[in-house]
Amino acid sequence: MPDAYGQLLDATIQHLEDLKSRGVRHVAIAPETLRALAQSAPRPAAPPQELRSSRPVLRSSTAEGGREEAQTFQMSATGNQPAIQQSLLTSAATDNLTASAAPLDPQAKAAAFAALRERALACVKCAHLASSRKNVAFGVGSIDAQLMFVGEAPGADEDEQGEPFVGKAGQLLTKIIQATGLQRADVYIANILKCRPDTPGQTAGNRKPTSDEMATCIPYLHEQIDLIRPKVIVALGATAVDGLLGKTLGITKLRGTWKTYRGTPLMPTYHPAYLLRNQAMSEKRKVWEDMLAVMEKLEMPISEKQRRFFPKA
Ligand code: URA
Repeated sequence: MPDAYGQLLDATIQHLEDLKSRGVRHVAIAPETLRALAQSAPRPAAPPQELRSSRPVLRSSTAEGGREEAQTFQMSATGNQPAIQQSLLTSAATDNLTASAAPLDPQAKAAAFAALRERALACVKCAHLASSRKNVAFGVGSIDAQLMFVGEAPGADEDEQGEPFVGKAGQLLTKIIQATGLQRADVYIANILKCRPDTPGQTAGNRKPTSDEMATCIPYLHEQIDLIRPKVIVALGATAVDGLLGKTLGITKLRGTWKTYRGTPLMPTYHPAYLLRNQAMSEKRKVWEDMLAVMEKLEMPISEKQRRFFPKA
């Protein structure tokens, strides 16, 4: 027989599952409730089950996804260093998944984020990934960031270091961030999947996450986004776009066009690994144009020099 906390938790989960089965996709939570939840100690024997989102998550096999890393890239940064301030943004909702709860105070936010991180680090929902991973790459950067990048899944380097985007594609992403005048620590970087997709029998290489893995893991990303409340999300590559928006047109058609994710403007762009595979100036320019649009949306200063990066031939 579960204790009182356990009974309450089970009843809550049951209630939420019932709502979900009836098509409800968003539950408003009062800030004080969220604070109380962040402080509740998980049951030692069985940690609270994550609330699953049934947002559509589909796989894509387009070349612009992010699994390969190679070669080199150069992108110069300016010394432009705009001040980044946390905004209590409440964009107009364009779907019924808007994070509408009032923002938490900084202490409660940090506590809720730390609790979320602990849960993700201990996650064993995908038993095959929990047993093959070296580390969970939960996310990195400022939890007060205005700008959030979402990629696909950790690769070998990220698995080794427990941090998203630290391999070759990650180094390129860092250069792209710096080219805007920001530093990596000013933004938040996360993936759809927090564990490296396993590759049994292979000594090298990566694989795309399955739709089941993505559906299992994405509630962590939802919670990260809901706590950080970025002003803009950049989705890197087809898998990130599919994971966040559901299967749509494909990254080639979508990139450069503003979308909305739970009330937050979302810019789809190519994955940096794609730029490593395809070194054409035209492709770099496309990503840079997407970043210029992001900078404009964030009202960041843009120099003439920045506007001229990667000119069209
Ligand atoms: N590719 C991704 O999508 N994410 C990482 O963290 C690394 C490479």
